[in-house]
This record gives sequence, structure tokens and C-alpha cells, in this order.
Amino acid sequence: MSEIDSLKAQLETLQSEALAAFSAAIDLVSLQQMRVNYLGKKGALTEVLKGVGKLPPQERPVIGQYVNQSKSVLSAALDIAEAGLAVAAKAERVEAERIDVTLPGRVGATGALHPVQRGLDEMTAIFSQMGFAVAEGPEIENEFHNFDALNIPPEHPARAMHDTFFVEQMGDEPMLLRTHTSPVQIRAMKRFLAESGEPPLAVVAPGRVYRCDYDVTHSPMFHQVEVFKVDRDVSMAHLKGVLKHFLSTYFEKEVSIRLRPHYFPFTEPSAEVDIGCVFCAGKGCRICKNSGWIEVLGSGMIHPNVLKSVGIDSDEFSGFAFGLGVERLVMLKQGIPDLRMFFENDVRFLRRMGS
Ligand code: PHE
Repeated sequence: MSEIDSLKAQLETLQSEALAAFSAAIDLVSLQQMRVNYLGKKGALTEVLKGVGKLPPQERPVIGQYVNQSKSVLSAALDIAEAGLAVAAKAERVEAERIDVTLPGRVGATGALHPVQRGLDEMTAIFSQMGFAVAEGPEIENEFHNFDALNIPPEHPARAMHDTFFVEQMGDEPMLLRTHTSPVQIRAMKRFLAESGEPPLAVVAPGRVYRCDYDVTHSPMFHQVEVFKVDRDVSMAHLKGVLKHFLSTYFEKEVSIRLRPHYFPFTEPSAEVDIGCVFCAGKGCRICKNSGWIEVLGSGMIHPNVLKSVGIDSDEFSGFAFGLGVERLVMLKQGIPDLRMFFENDVRFLRRMGS
């Protein structure tokens, strides 16, 4: 075989060998390596070109042409193989990253309002639907609003009965944690009069109160809703009507009520209000201690001294007021046996109540 024929044969073998290798390549890295091996500066084709030196000068361009042809064939074949592998790699990645969008999502745990807060909101809403304006007052109070203006002078025994928490004194004035929401009566009346001059005014004041007390039915912090109305000719009948409507709405059934004479310094006359036992419908059970009645709140006609303390003429205007214990009513409505359950934050209790 002549020198040129043997070079040609060498080239052909090389080319078909290379094409087979390209199509068998399984990844882009090995293809890249093959490009270097065949077409690189020290690659197989360059190696063939070295043999050209042995040829007579007139034959050299011929073989040079063959080599160049081979180069472009191999280079094109490499490009195609590369593109093919790239497409395959992409398809593989898409497959690996496939997401089933039809799977149900992970639902995060949702919180719920604390049962006391829910009761507070429900009660406030009932009064606000009846036309009472919502008011709030500070939990740290002075003696004037918590006691004096409510007709409880310093030497009054009711002051001692209130189990008051006093706050470390900042100025000359002793401060305390309010023992009831009644001081909001004073604050709201003052604010209201400054704005509109004179009654009528009707207010609902929900909030936290504090007493130094702790057992099955008492917690040092609890909640009250204070409700009062001042106008011309307000009577006990209005008080009773508002109470009956409120209690029946809150308990979602007709409840009977009973007013028992009582004493509060800031109301005259005063009454404690009982509802017909919601558990035994008045027949008598453990909860109502067989009396058929459960005490739920304190009430009365606002004492003339209280109206006077904010400058309302008690000859012209009268008012009713009552203050109810929120926890008490929620316990009765939900059948919760121990007040302390509200504040122990046992998550099983909160979950059951929070639906
Ligand atoms: N403030 C009273 C208490 O906490 C309740 C009450 C409010 C009574 C308004 C009469 C009128 O016990």
C-alpha cells in the first residue's frame, strides 16, 4: 500500500472509531475529553498530520484536505452528541425535580382566641348591638377613681373587703390595680360630659381586674364587663329589661332572672342578680346548690353621690349600673368546673375550647 493510501485508511479507521465513541458517550464530561483526544493540539488527528512529512510534496495538500474534512466531520458529530446529551440531562433534571401539584398541601396549625377573650368579645358585642358605647380605662388606677368617686370613702369597710393590690408608689398618690371595672363609670362619664355636655349616655366597659384572692372560684386576675346608662327617668325596670335581654342572648335560651336586695356603696338601691340554673332549669342540682338559682352579677341604681362626683345633677338624671364576672358566665355557658383552668394554659383544655 502506498504511503498516502495507508494514511487515508488510518484516517478512516480513526474517524469511524471516533464516531462510534461519540455516540456511546454517556455524559458531557467524557465528550469533552474525546474532543481533546481527537481534535486537540496533541490529538489523534494532529498525530496523523505528522505522517504527512513522509509524503512527496505534491501529495501533501491532498492528505491535508482529508484531515481537515475529518476534523469538520468529527467536530460536527461532537456538537450533535453534545446537544443530545444536554437535552437528555435536562429531561433527567426535570424528571428528578418533578412536583406533584395535585398533592394536598400541609396545613399549618391555626390558633384560636382564649375562651375568656371570646366570652368578653361576645358579651361586649351584645351590649354594643343594644346601643351601648364601648369604653376602656386603665388597669393601674388611683384611689379616687377606684374608691372615692364611687362613694367608698377611705374609712369605708368596703375598701378593706376589696383585697386590693397596691402598686409601688411613684409620686405622692398611692396607685393600685383596679379591683373592679366601676372606675370606668367615672372616667367615661367625665369624658362623655366634656364632649357632649349632658346625658343620655350608655356605656359598656370590658376589662381586667385584680384582687388578692386564689381558689376554685377566685383568681387574682379576672375579667369584668361594666354596663351603665344615665338619662332622665331611668329605672330598675330598664336595668331588669337590659339584663334579661343580655342573659337570654348570651345563653342562647330564655333565662329567668331574680333580683335580690344587696349592698354596694355606689348603687342605691342595689341588687344581686341570679339566673334560673342553666343546668337543671330551676329544679335544683349540685351547681346551684339545690336552690335553682345562680348568682351572676351585682347591680343597682347609680348612687346620687357618684353622679355628683362627676357633676351630673342627680335630681334631673338617674342611672343603672351593673358589673358582671366574665369567667363566671363563660364557666356556666361552657360547663367548666374550675376557674383556674382558664389560666393554667393546659393546651388540651385550650384546644377543646378553641374550636
Ligand atoms: N363593681 C361591683 C363588683 O365588682 C359590681 C357592680 C357594678 C355592682 C356596678 C353594682 C353596680 O363587685
